Amino acid sequence: MPTLLLKSQTTAWIEELPRHLPDLKVRHYPDIGDPAGIDYALVWLPPPGLLKSLPNLKVIFSLGAGVDHILADPELPAGIPIVRISDPHQCHLMSEYALLAVLYFHRAMPAILADQLQAKWTRRWPLYTPETAVGVLGLGEIGQDIARKLCAIGFPVHGWSRSPKRVDGITCHHGQAGLRAMLPLCRYIICVLPLTEATQGIIDAAFLQALPPGAFVINMGRGGHVVDKDLLAALDIGHIAGAFLDVFDVEPLPPAHPYWQHPKVVVTPHCAGDVVPRTAASAIVANIRRHLGGDKLHNVYQPDRGY
Ligand code: GLV
Repeated sequence: MPTLLLKSQTTAWIEELPRHLPDLKVRHYPDIGDPAGIDYALVWLPPPGLLKSLPNLKVIFSLGAGVDHILADPELPAGIPIVRISDPHQCHLMSEYALLAVLYFHRAMPAILADQLQAKWTRRWPLYTPETAVGVLGLGEIGQDIARKLCAIGFPVHGWSRSPKRVDGITCHHGQAGLRAMLPLCRYIICVLPLTEATQGIIDAAFLQALPPGAFVINMGRGGHVVDKDLLAALDIGHIAGAFLDVFDVEPLPPAHPYWQHPKVVVTPHCAGDVVPRTAASAIVANIRRHLGGDKLHNVYQPDRGY
């Protein structure tokens, strides 16, 4: 009987996974039982050494679109495929968050909320939307969904990816030259990149300087994408007008971090998108079935590209 170890606070997986594969036994960490009996692991932030302690582990499933939380384990066993999640509802949540952040700045909500505190009736209008471009960094499933939805509400949308992509209605750029060409055009920049060696610290002083004055930064990728001191400096000199940040180098964001009190920063607690058992379980089980049947797994992490 195939057995899966779940490391998540979301207990709905325990019922949801066997609904799609009744034979599947789910053990909930830390109740591992006999480590030799575990075939699959479905994990978020596995404690270092946990995966290595499972001698018959065959596939590691990430409970996130990113796999950096698994790769951070210095004792990660080599040679076991790691599968990234693909959850339509997570995509939907991420897009909602991106729209919320763009529209919050676009419709001058920071100033309107400040006016309200003083009972000030000041009508504020956005820039002309069809001429106000948004750039999306990362054109995987999530980035494409965000780009399409922004496009649908009238923004010109640019997308940037490591390798060339085509997405209907979106101006696609790639590589370093593509990034240099795209940034000066974008009033809003949204990061949904995976965290890799190539993307670590991508939002640094040079990147921010390349954006037009008054641009806004929205980070829903990983904290490691942003060089915090560079973003704070760009906010303080006014080149960047605001930041909407969901992810941080250290989470929870420490209480003394300057982002918390910064008047131009919105901090949210890594809640842009969650993986929802009801919609994600079937894709995980489909991969388990492929593995049981000796077929090729879908959405496997590729070390050469880092995601
Ligand atoms: C969440 O941060 C994810 O990687 O899906």
